[in-house]
Amino acid sequence: MSKTIKVAEIRDLLPGTGKVVQADGHEIALFNIDGEFFAIDNICSHSGGPLCEGFLSADIVECPWHGAQFNVKTGAAMCPPATADVRSFPVKVEGNDLLIELGIPELLCTS
Ligand code: FES
Repeated sequence: MSKTIKVAEIRDLLPGTGKVVQADGHEIALFNIDGEFFAIDNICSHSGGPLCEGFLSADIVECPWHGAQFNVKTGAAMCPPATADVRSFPVKVEGNDLLIELGIPELLCTS
């Protein structure tokens, strides 16, 4: 089950830039790579740096705090000091709107 939330408009994000957006209590880094949009957690898995403020080169963002790199298309950690991936979220374009699809964790059943 998932939830789709409008987080920005296309004009808010020039190619080659990133921006932090809020979606249902999540802080998400949204990037425009040559007109394609990608979303990952904004919080670096190493020590909480703001990934939206990192240097973006092709599809790699470098955390501004200690230099870990992440693939913005997949959230994969590409180099130390980060060893854990960050979550990535599908981005939909509807007209001028950018929407992020958030997965909703399934409830655990206890008996
Ligand atoms: S907080 Fe991102 S590399 Fe340390």
